[in-house]
Amino acid sequence: MTTSPLSVFSTDLARTAKIQDDKLHSAWRSPSNIALIKYWGKKEGQHPANASLSMTLSQAFTETSVTALRSQGPALLININGDNAHPFLPKLQVFFQWLIREIPVFNGFSYCVETKNSFPHSTGIASSASGMSAFTLCMLDIASQIANVDLSREETLHLASFASRMGSGSACRSLFGGFSVWGESDIVAGSSDQYAITINDLVHPGLDSLHDAILVVSSRPKSVASTLGHSLMNDHPFAGARFMQARTHLEQILTALKAGDLERLGNISETEALTLHSLIMISRGGGLLFEPGSITIMRKIKEARDFGLPVFYTLDAGPNVHLLYPDAASDKVEAFIRSELLQFCEDGQVIFDHRGEGPVAITERND
Ligand code: PMV
Repeated sequence: MTTSPLSVFSTDLARTAKIQDDKLHSAWRSPSNIALIKYWGKKEGQHPANASLSMTLSQAFTETSVTALRSQGPALLININGDNAHPFLPKLQVFFQWLIREIPVFNGFSYCVETKNSFPHSTGIASSASGMSAFTLCMLDIASQIANVDLSREETLHLASFASRMGSGSACRSLFGGFSVWGESDIVAGSSDQYAITINDLVHPGLDSLHDAILVVSSRPKSVASTLGHSLMNDHPFAGARFMQARTHLEQILTALKAGDLERLGNISETEALTLHSLIMISRGGGLLFEPGSITIMRKIKEARDFGLPVFYTLDAGPNVHLLYPDAASDKVEAFIRSELLQFCEDGQVIFDHRGEGPVAITERND
């Protein structure tokens, strides 16, 4: 049996009982990410059916704080965006149970979790990615304090990537700034099904300031939860073809990233988004996640491109449209968004985001 990397927190429980603090605290801000090569379908052990590639964002993030109180524990009290009965709670509870099985030092404490998003939850902006990665970072930080383990930032992010994928697969890519790959692939050295890796050294510096404007067409919770969506790939009639396509797209997008070729990257991203939605539409139950506004926006982007504007789209499993464009064209694209596209967004909501640097610890507090 292979040892889990989380065994780094295994410690003599008698020693743990001696730690002075009855109250421990950790807080992290972790960003969302946008997949350019989509993860859709999984294998046993929460391993992806194909390797995915994403860009970590900056303005779309979750801030989470966890306070651990010594008690008979472990118990979990969660407050999401001020709501104690949020639909994301059960997913977090299941992940918490996995964490306490993997990291025994969590026993003997209860955990109060407060979490807040900078964007609407469950709308195709990967809220589970930012939420799960922020929660995992807080919990591993607390595990380090209990077990008295000193980890570097790099080690912490690697372990958080390993653990957070059990809460939400896409979360494991949010731990790193810039571009990440999750899923073992012979094309990407060091890639793994168990955690994501950064691939920034394979990316042309011209893409360092790639923009992603997220057009919120609807903030209603999405109708096909990703857990169900992944499972529908198990007997999907096009599963085999999709996994082959994902491999080809990964190879092509890596070439585009290396060359700084936004047009190629954008074309692949659009095909990936349309493939994801097509797979969902013809899955059992036939989910239709576009809103009329999503389709109009996609059409208008294509038209604008025909007039020379370098702008491309992608979508996750929801109606909101992510616009990808280079820094050099940001004034023109943002003027186009304001004049042509904002009218299709719910209450004119748009998040002007861009490639981000990854998670940050908020403040050390122990009061
Ligand atoms: O992490 P999950 O289980 O919520 O799945 C996310 C799937 C997509 O967002 C649709 C694609 C991706 O790779 O992020």
